[in-house]
Amino acid sequence: MLRTKTCGELRKSDLGFSVTLAGWVDSVRDHSGVLFINLRDRYGLTQIVFLQGINDEMFETVRSLHPEDVVQVTGTVQLRPEGIVNKKILTGEIEVNAEKIVVLSRTEIVPFQPSAPELPAEETRLRYRYLDLRRSVMQKTLMLRHRITKVLRDYFDEHYFVEIETPMLGKSTPEGARDYLVPSRVAQGQFYALPQSPQLYKQILMIAGYDRYFQIARCFRDEDLRADRQPEFTQVDLEMSFVDSEDVIEIISGLMLRLMKEILGRELKLPIPRMSYDEAMERFGHDAPDLRFGMELIDLTDWAKEVDFRVFRSVADSGGRIRAINAKGVAAKYSRKDIDGLNNWVIEQFGAKGIAWLKADTQGILTGPIAKNFTATQLQQIAERLHVEADDFLLFSADTFEVTCKVLNGLRRRLAAELKLIDPNEMNFCWVVQFPMFDWDAEEQHWIAIHHPFTAPLESDLPYLTNTDPEALAPQKIRAQAYDLVLNGFEVGGGTIRIHDSQVQSKVFDLLGLSMETAKEQFGFLLNALQFGAPPHGGIALGLDRLVMLFGGLDNIRDCIAFPKTTKAADLMTGAPSPVTAKQLGELAIQVKPDNTKTVTE
Ligand code: AMO
Ligand code: AMP
Repeated sequence: MLRTKTCGELRKSDLGFSVTLAGWVDSVRDHSGVLFINLRDRYGLTQIVFLQGINDEMFETVRSLHPEDVVQVTGTVQLRPEGIVNKKILTGEIEVNAEKIVVLSRTEIVPFQPSAPELPAEETRLRYRYLDLRRSVMQKTLMLRHRITKVLRDYFDEHYFVEIETPMLGKSTPEGARDYLVPSRVAQGQFYALPQSPQLYKQILMIAGYDRYFQIARCFRDEDLRADRQPEFTQVDLEMSFVDSEDVIEIISGLMLRLMKEILGRELKLPIPRMSYDEAMERFGHDAPDLRFGMELIDLTDWAKEVDFRVFRSVADSGGRIRAINAKGVAAKYSRKDIDGLNNWVIEQFGAKGIAWLKADTQGILTGPIAKNFTATQLQQIAERLHVEADDFLLFSADTFEVTCKVLNGLRRRLAAELKLIDPNEMNFCWVVQFPMFDWDAEEQHWIAIHHPFTAPLESDLPYLTNTDPEALAPQKIRAQAYDLVLNGFEVGGGTIRIHDSQVQSKVFDLLGLSMETAKEQFGFLLNALQFGAPPHGGIALGLDRLVMLFGGLDNIRDCIAFPKTTKAADLMTGAPSPVTAKQLGELAIQVKPDNTKTVTE
C-alpha cells in the first residue's frame, strides 16, 4: 500500500506515530509560515501541517498544489493546538506534521470542486460524474446502498433464498413498458430484449423447484422518465413457492424491520398497516398514499346533487364526483394570486377544468367567490362534512373520479410540502392490496391486464372472469392477489400471486382478447413450463434505487445511482447513446433512416 493509514482513522491515541497518508487535496491554506492541507479520501479528512524552514523544496511543492491534486504525505501525528480542534470531523483533534510529500497526480482545473458547498448544474455533475462522486454525500449514499444490499442479502440467505442470475439478453414479451432491443448479428433481423424484469424467469425457477429465489436484478424500461424513474434501474426481485399473499407480505415486512434496525437504528412496528386499493383511491386519490400527513379526500357528490352551483351540480348529475380536501388553519397563507397559481397548475398538470375553493374566517364562517351559490344550510353541511374550523382552506374538484383523484392527490402533496407538514425523519410504510386486475381500454376497445396476465385473481372474484361484456363491467370488479409496498408516498415494491392453473390462465387470456396462439407466440415457454408441474407461487420486486433514496432521505433516484441517465435517457459522461460505424450496422444488417444518420469516424 502507498499509505499506512486512511484519512479518516487517526485519533488522539495515535499521537507520536509516523504515518503515511494518500488522498486528494481538499484545500490548501497559507498562514504565513505555515501551510495546511486538508487531505481527503473515502474515509475522511486529515489536516496536514507544513512548517516553513524545515524543507524548502517540500514547502514550494505544497504551495504549488491545487485542490484535487493527489498526494502522498509522510509525517508525525500531533495534537492540534487548543482552539483549532474541529469537533465536526472525527480526526478533528489531531493533525499530521509533514516530513515528506510526493505528488502522485496533478489535476487539470476542475469544473467544480467536490467540497464546495454550492452544487453546479446537474448536467455538469453528470458530465464530470467522477468529480461529483467524490462529494461526501454521494459517497455516503453509495455506501448506504452497499449496506442495504448487504443487509438484504444476509436476510434472504437466512430465509433460505437462493440468489440466481437470469439473462440480460432475452425474448421481447409484452410487459407494460417499451423494450430496449438488442439486434442479433448471427440471426440478422432478429432481436433480443433487455429484461423489463426477471418476471418469467423467476416463475420458471419456481417450476424448476428452487422454492425461494432472489436477485438484485438490473431492469430496463424504455418509458417516459420522472424523478423516481430511470430507464435502467435495480430491483430486489424475489419469488416463493407454496405461498399466498400473506407469506410474501410477511417476508418483506420482516426485511423492512431489519433494514430499519440495521440501517437507521430504528424500530419498525409490525404489522405494517394495510389498505385496499379502493380505500387508498377514496381517501388519498392515489395508490401509493403518503400517510405522513392528513388532508384526506372527502366525497360530496350526493350533497352536490341538491345544490344549484352549476359547476358541481352538472358533474354530480352526469356521474362524476365532487371531492374536497381541507388544509387546516392556513387560509390566510394563500392569497388570490397563490390560488390562481394552484388553479393553473391543476389545469396544466392534470387536465382539470379548475379548482373551486372556500376559506373559513376567524369565526369559522365559509367565504369565497363560490359561497354565494349555496344556501346557509348547504354551507353548514360542507362545514360539517369537512370538519371546518377557523382559518381552514377548502379545495374542491368536480370531475370524473380519475381526474378528482389526480387533482386532489396532487394538491394534497403540494400543499403538504409548501406548508412543511411532513416530518422529514418519518418512515411511513403501508401495504396497498387488492388491486383491480383489469382495466377497459376505451380507445383500443379491449381489456388490459393492470399488472401482468399471469397475476392470480382473488378466489372470491373468479366467477366474474367469464363475463366479458364491457357494458356489464364485471371484469372491473375482479381484484388481483396483488400487493404494493408504499413508503412515504412512493411505491417501493409490487408483486402478485401468480396463476398456476391453466384453466384460469386461459380464461384470463380470453378476457384480454389474446388467442392461445398469440399467447404461445409471446410467452409459450412459460405456458409450456406451467404444464410440467407448477407449484403455486408468487413474489414481489422492490425498487432498490427508490429504497436507497428514501432510506437516505433524498428526493431523486439519480443521486442513488453511480452512473444515472438524464430524463432524455442519455449518459452525459460517456455520451451514450451514440451513433455506431457503418461496419457495425452492416454486420447487423441494419440501415438507419438517412435523416437520422450521424456520421461516425471509425
Ligand atoms: P413492477 O413493475 O411494479 O413489478 O416493479 C417493481 C418495483 O420496481 C420499481 N420500479 C422502478 N424504479 C426505478 N425506475 C423505474 N423505471 C422503475 N419501474 C419500477 C418500483 C416498483 O415497485 N415483475 C414485477 C414484480 C413481481 O410481480 O414480482 C415487476 O417488475 O419500486
Ligand atoms: P365559474 O362559475 O365557471 O366561474 O367557476 C367557478 C369556480 O369553479 C372557478 O374558481 C373555477 O376555477 C372552478 N371550477 C371550474 N370547473 C371546476 C371543476 N371541474 N372542479 C372544481 N372547480 C371548478
